Amino acid sequence: MKIYIKTYGCQMNERDSEACSGMLVARGHSLAETEKEADVLIYNTCSVRDQAERKAIGKVGIMKRLKRKKPDLIIGIMGCMAQNHGEELLKELPHVDFIIGTGQLHKVPDIIEELSNERVKHVLVTENPDVLDEMATHYAIDNNQIFAQVAITRGCNRFCSYCIVPYVRGREISRKIADIVKEVNELVQNGVKEILLLGQNVAAFGLGGDVNPPAPDVSPFADLLVELNDIEGLERIRFTSPYPSYFTDKLINAIATLPKVCNNIQLPLQSGSDRILKKMNRQYTAEQYLEIINKLKKSIPEVTFATDVIVGFPEETDEDFAATRDLLNEVGFVNAYLFKYSPRQGTPAAKIADQVPQEVKENRHQILLEDLKQRTVAHNKTFVGTTQQILVEGPSKRNSERWTGKTTNGKHVMFTWQDGIQPGSIINVAIKHCSTASLFGDIVE
Ligand code: 5AD
Ligand code: SF4
Repeated sequence: MKIYIKTYGCQMNERDSEACSGMLVARGHSLAETEKEADVLIYNTCSVRDQAERKAIGKVGIMKRLKRKKPDLIIGIMGCMAQNHGEELLKELPHVDFIIGTGQLHKVPDIIEELSNERVKHVLVTENPDVLDEMATHYAIDNNQIFAQVAITRGCNRFCSYCIVPYVRGREISRKIADIVKEVNELVQNGVKEILLLGQNVAAFGLGGDVNPPAPDVSPFADLLVELNDIEGLERIRFTSPYPSYFTDKLINAIATLPKVCNNIQLPLQSGSDRILKKMNRQYTAEQYLEIINKLKKSIPEVTFATDVIVGFPEETDEDFAATRDLLNEVGFVNAYLFKYSPRQGTPAAKIADQVPQEVKENRHQILLEDLKQRTVAHNKTFVGTTQQILVEGPSKRNSERWTGKTTNGKHVMFTWQDGIQPGSIINVAIKHCSTASLFGDIVE
């Protein structure tokens, strides 16, 4: 059968969709480019903000028309929204055939095959994930990709007061180092040069779900990085998203000393106000956060930072917001995912009476976006006149003479292609000029 998968939300969802694609292709199915040509439509959904849920519900709703024309069409919803609402989704979307939560994604191929024999609704949203070994399957492995995502933990135990993830993705589990190394080795043998390690709380890897921050000399995540750094042929290791409290001295030292670990670090701040951080149930103060940043800056001179911030958390005052804005400027983040707080049913923050008005959220969001743009442009300009080592990705979409690659900080670089250069090559590029999004330059020997 021809299967179309649409993914909403975070990189973990992208990875889950890729694993599903891999499992389905291994069973003899193929992937469809468009919804129209598909026999099966799967929507891998997100619940982290209301807008993400509404988008997916709207999209699946529209597909009712297609199903009327093609009654054999199978439609399924998987991922966080499936887990969050389960069978209830069928009330609004009665044309959906299956709903599969976050712990049962590996059952997608069986369910599709059952549905092609007999049409009964399948709703699988039990809380505890079954063994997810199958989820190590990669689609990209057959596809000559130089980049791959590798999930190393699943779930989250932190229960930040605004966040639905611990409820829809369940308790935190870590895979075994040996299994991850095996997976990455296979990827590298198939041409992968760069990996992105994924987890809701990736630096808590291997700590058994303990929410107390570890001692300075403890970090199973650092042990994993050491092993991955040893894999011959692998060039770059990135990771997302780590909770700040797990940045022990041991981890900082590993990031600083392991050459393959990239030096752009995503470190979610959420707020720069201690009062709000406390209400968010984040286990650090602004000062402790800065301490980690400063340790990283000291041990990795060329380090850059990205972050996540929520504006308009309940009871956030102008002073709280100013503290966030000041901290963002002080750290000098070169990238930030800026979110407007969205109340999630069942989370403690949604019950706080004093919710911030929408226009205040919009306004604060806009201010941070503008600050970020200015910082990004200024940062890009610092690259002009330098020579950067680039991992080549391939031709740009618009112009096949122009190729793109990334610096270790994750900056996109455009350059003119030369004979012998292929995806995965490591080259030096002299940066000549920049835009808001990219750097441009010429290859040097
Ligand atoms: N509203 C807005 N943003 C949220 N995030 C998580 N929950 C919410 C919410 N209810 C943001 C956080 C997190 C990122 C993945 O999404 O910043 O780091
Ligand atoms: Fe959500 Fe907090 Fe867990 Fe991140 S650490 S997934 S924000 S509960």
